[in-house]
Amino acid sequence: MYAIVGGSGLAKLTVLQNPRRQVMRTPYGEPSGALTFGELAGAEVVFLARHGYGHTLAPHEINYRANIWALKELKVEGVIAVATVGGIGAHFAPGSLVLPHQIIDYTHSRKSTFFEGSEMPVIHVDFTQPYSQALRSRLIKAAAACQEPLLDGAVYACTQGPRLETAAEIERIAREGGEIVGMTGMPEAVLARECELQYAALAVVVNDAAGRGNSVQAIKLEELGGVMQAAIMRAVRILSSFFGEPQ
Ligand code: HPA
Repeated sequence: MYAIVGGSGLAKLTVLQNPRRQVMRTPYGEPSGALTFGELAGAEVVFLARHGYGHTLAPHEINYRANIWALKELKVEGVIAVATVGGIGAHFAPGSLVLPHQIIDYTHSRKSTFFEGSEMPVIHVDFTQPYSQALRSRLIKAAAACQEPLLDGAVYACTQGPRLETAAEIERIAREGGEIVGMTGMPEAVLARECELQYAALAVVVNDAAGRGNSVQAIKLEELGGVMQAAIMRAVRILSSFFGEPQ
């Protein structure tokens, strides 16, 4: 069984058949909400809304440890995270779907490890390649199978939020190699690595990042609902193809 973690625009996976909800508790507290089990394209999956079902949790308020711990307890085979992002490079235009291959972490003060506390040995996990290449390859194949364009590779810059960035911050992130920018990729990815869970992210570009393209003066997120919904539906098509196709 795979887990799907949904972000903004994907608080509910309406395509799930026979949905069943289960509340879970973990040593790290409660996950963002109840977990929903169901079938997608015939495969059993578990879905978790990262921001809570009512979208009440800001990126820095999410209990990433509880979310990942719950999925580890369920012994999922892997985690596919869906997340909205801003596009920095010109080819990451709003509406694009992207499979990032690298991360730069600009967050701070988030609980970002399971390996702390007096009873825990200090363990330094390898994070050279933050996403599972095996899972990424399968997602690329699934996108090709349903003919949905999916950009293979981008450096995901994770900012603290909840505010959006300044134009100068995006300039700096671009100089440092960031190509898409979001607020929830970390510590989710590293916690999954600490739990030895395969993890990949399906990023949905919903706006030009601050100071770029249509966002030179401002990012008008409220005007992006249409782009977001259409792109999220395409992401769900890729997920259905992923589970429906024999891989
Ligand atoms: N910046 C950070 N996070 C985001 C953005 C952005 O421009 N768009 C969607 N999530």
